[in-house]
Amino acid sequence: MCFIPEKHLLGTMKFGLFLAACLAAVQAAITVPGINYNPRIGPNWGPDSTNCKSASQILADFQILAKITKGVRIYSITDCNQAQLVIPAAKSAGLKVWLGVWVGPDSSTFAAEKAKLSSLIQSGVVDSSILGIHVGSEAVYRKDVTPEQAIAYYQDIKNLFTTAGIKTLVTIADIGDTWIANPSMVEAVDIVSANEFPFWENKDASEAASWFYMRMGPLIASAAKYKKQILISETGWATDGSAVNTGPATPAQAAKYFNDFQLLATQMNWNYFYFSSFDMAFNSNASITNNVEEHFGLYYANGTMKPCYAELTVSGSSSVTTLAPSQLATATLAPVPTMPKNDPISPVSNSTKVASPTKSPSSTSAPGTTTSSSSKSSATSSPTTASSTAGSGKANVKSGASTIAVSGVVSMLLASIVMTIM
Ligand SMILES: *[C@@H]1O[C@H](CO)[C@@H](O)[C@H](O)[C@H]1NC(C)=O
Ligand SMILES: *[C@@H]1O[C@H](CO)[C@@H](O)[C@H](O)[C@H]1NC(C)=O
Ligand SMILES: *[C@@H]1O[C@H](CO)[C@@H](O)[C@H](O)[C@H]1NC(C)=O
Repeated sequence: MCFIPEKHLLGTMKFGLFLAACLAAVQAAITVPGINYNPRIGPNWGPDSTNCKSASQILADFQILAKITKGVRIYSITDCNQAQLVIPAAKSAGLKVWLGVWVGPDSSTFAAEKAKLSSLIQSGVVDSSILGIHVGSEAVYRKDVTPEQAIAYYQDIKNLFTTAGIKTLVTIADIGDTWIANPSMVEAVDIVSANEFPFWENKDASEAASWFYMRMGPLIASAAKYKKQILISETGWATDGSAVNTGPATPAQAAKYFNDFQLLATQMNWNYFYFSSFDMAFNSNASITNNVEEHFGLYYANGTMKPCYAELTVSGSSSVTTLAPSQLATATLAPVPTMPKNDPISPVSNSTKVASPTKSPSSTSAPGTTTSSSSKSSATSSPTTASSTAGSGKANVKSGASTIAVSGVVSMLLASIVMTIM
């Protein structure tokens, strides 16, 4: 917050200028409807005993995130025992949770995730306050499962919630191209949850929003055909690191993308979970040139917001020309070949572990993401609410009376910004 001088010390005019500057500074705080989160610390191949955040560390993270969002999205039920730890921490911090069931090539992974989810439903930890749940994150893209198996797993989890009498959104999360190539998946789910990263498709931030929309076009048409909303479950940009065939990993590019994507999301009425919250060593390996994946956070690992975001005021108007779904190509695509890359998201674990959602660090190839589109369902909701849809794919790819008055204005301003975004 900015320091507010006593009004009588400055004179009305100067005070007005001061107030304007102050409000501008406050306005600069970015907000997102939701954000992705992973409680792992360190590389993904480390043991849970030393590589998972504690309940108090998760709560501290959420108190930071609560300043810019209303919802957090996770990737696994069992990895780091995260569902059990994240849900109460989120409640304490005033956040809602979008859950994720990890799906890998080994069916025992899904079995363990489902068993734990079931016990959390029985104990009441998972209740109707959750925003939704995705079953598998890019598992079809990675070819860990077929689209048919992905739908079967989805149905299994959908039934679990129906039986328990919990109404919530259930879906599968995958890259846009996977959804485009598999209309049966679009038809099956409650909402389309798509990941899309122009960054992984070697785009410059200046063209990324247009590219995003173009890549999502067929999915927007497909989702409209099946009357499904689209939630953008992941998109983001690395601020650092080196990689080949990606967009430039710099703070300026990352901020430009954040700005332009937010304008596009508003234009499209898309709900989204930004990727990601904190930088993490997850999947980092200095000996691999592709070390950008640890730099997707809006915050550094130590919880400080990166200057490129702290100083950002989303501005301008979207330059993307959009079309009605009926004007978009509906042809389905074969999944695009993607470049090998580490999965930025997956809770990967040591390959010797079976139960956790995982990939061995070596199985890097997974997820390219592709784009997807989304349309958001009801405008209302924070990512939280059901309505969001997502799609993305990565293709390869404050004191004193006057201060109190000011604080009130600031709060209202923030509230309106948040509401606008939501
Ligand atoms: C990092 O990557 C190199 C090259 O693939 C590999 O040899 C090494 O084992 C990796 N390090 C870790 C800690 O996984
Ligand atoms: C947090 O980490 C960033 C990046 O390493 C660093 O620039 C900043 O000074 C750190 N902040 C604190 C409070 O340690
Ligand atoms: C996986 O875990 C086992 C048992 O803890 C350990 O021996 C092995 O070195 C780990 N592998 C990697 C790649 O860290």
